[in-house]
Amino acid sequence: MSDPLVLVSNRGPVTFGADGSFTRGGGGLVTALTGLASHRDVVWIASAMSDGDKHRAEQADGQPFSVESDADGAYRVRFVTSDPEAYDRFYNVVSNPMLWFIQHYLWDLSNAPDVRRHEVDAFEQGYKVVNEDLARAAIEEIDGQDEPVVMVHDYHLYTLPAVIRAARPDVFLHHFIHIPWTQPDAWRVLPASIRNEIYAGVLSNDIVGFHTRSYRWNFLQCCRDLMGLEVDFEGGIVRYEDREVWVRAYPLPIDYEATRKVAASERTAEFESELKRRRRDHVILRVDRADLSKNVLRGFAAFDQFLSEHPEFLEKVTFIAQLMPSRLDVEQYADYLRRIEERVAAVNHRHGTPDWMPIQLKLRDDLEEAVAAYKNYDVMIVNAMFDGMNLVAKEGPVVNEVDGVSILSENTGAHEELGEYALSVNPFDIKETADAIHAALTMSAEERARRARGLKEVVTARDPGDWIDDQIDDIREKRAAAGVSR
Ligand code: F6P
Repeated sequence: MSDPLVLVSNRGPVTFGADGSFTRGGGGLVTALTGLASHRDVVWIASAMSDGDKHRAEQADGQPFSVESDADGAYRVRFVTSDPEAYDRFYNVVSNPMLWFIQHYLWDLSNAPDVRRHEVDAFEQGYKVVNEDLARAAIEEIDGQDEPVVMVHDYHLYTLPAVIRAARPDVFLHHFIHIPWTQPDAWRVLPASIRNEIYAGVLSNDIVGFHTRSYRWNFLQCCRDLMGLEVDFEGGIVRYEDREVWVRAYPLPIDYEATRKVAASERTAEFESELKRRRRDHVILRVDRADLSKNVLRGFAAFDQFLSEHPEFLEKVTFIAQLMPSRLDVEQYADYLRRIEERVAAVNHRHGTPDWMPIQLKLRDDLEEAVAAYKNYDVMIVNAMFDGMNLVAKEGPVVNEVDGVSILSENTGAHEELGEYALSVNPFDIKETADAIHAALTMSAEERARRARGLKEVVTARDPGDWIDDQIDDIREKRAAAGVSR
């Protein structure tokens, strides 16, 4: 693999502002791939999402350009600008909410979704158009390569692999999906024609990767039940047309060295001294995108119940909730953010005193501020309803300095690895979550230390380099096998 590896995702590693400065893109996908991009010869193709991105794409004439940052090193990015209306349909109608909600079991089916002309057109004239735009850039990048490899990322790009495959039948396509894959019935919300096109796209890949064995299993089941395909569950193989598609689980580790570096930075120290100045006896923490799947409201309901049942903790505990507003052009997200603010106000009103606010809500994305809180929490709550992996569940324990206890939803990908050392909760069970808060705050020092040690050990056993190596090994192996069987 001497040619550059081509990586395609919707969200790019950087977002440019109007003045040409840039910040790191948000979310787990970018966290996972940035290390790879700076350590290997990679061209990262992504949608130009902000006006600054579009301007930068124009300056580069739609070609790759280099990005260099202190934290992440240097790598090459190619931004693709799509028609704004098509992009709006792609991002705000099909990807989020339609696919995101299907893949996190978020639809309240007696009420939504209504699939009308609007949604069908958004798939045809939005989702597919943006996928084609990004596919064209990938096809250009692999032009002239003898053994091209394209690594595709996430649920925004399900129809892209078929477009690349049609243009370059010899390409090796590896698609990693960062979110859960749900069971067959969840997919029946989609009209069969759209669903079939999505599955045909995903099955145009050579390898499809997920975070966990259970998502892999669900995908295989969907291929059998929705597509009527021949599936080898044990071997993780789907036979589609004349090809074999390998379906694999690659749990994503965090770059724990990088998180530790942030923990040691001066800016983090400034946030930390402020936190220590204001803190009460106990700190409970959550750090999330303000996304419905993260289950923020039930987390606050559990804290509310905990305070009602254990008044001895009144004025002694602060719940810091650092939530990054997200996808606000999607009505359900904007509404969710409003409900979060209302719930925080209600809990603070019910239990607060003139100089104690039980919940401190911070609606911003600030890595150092989050890491300062990671270092000091006594309890961290990750109670997502469903979550592909959840990297916060890994980042917190690796830098926490006070043997903080993790409360972890059994429906997160991270639970497969960390469940043994966390207090597991059913995210829908508010009583159980309230009890877990109490159990964590009253746990013996030895038990806290044992669990904290266990979490650190699991999280530091692997890094994203290992994750990529496993995938590259499978690419090599499958290629070698195809040399014989294809
Ligand atoms: O990891 C899941 C994911 O949806 C990524 O695909 C995405 O980049 C990230 O979360 C953040 O979401 P968005 O790109 O919509 O801000």
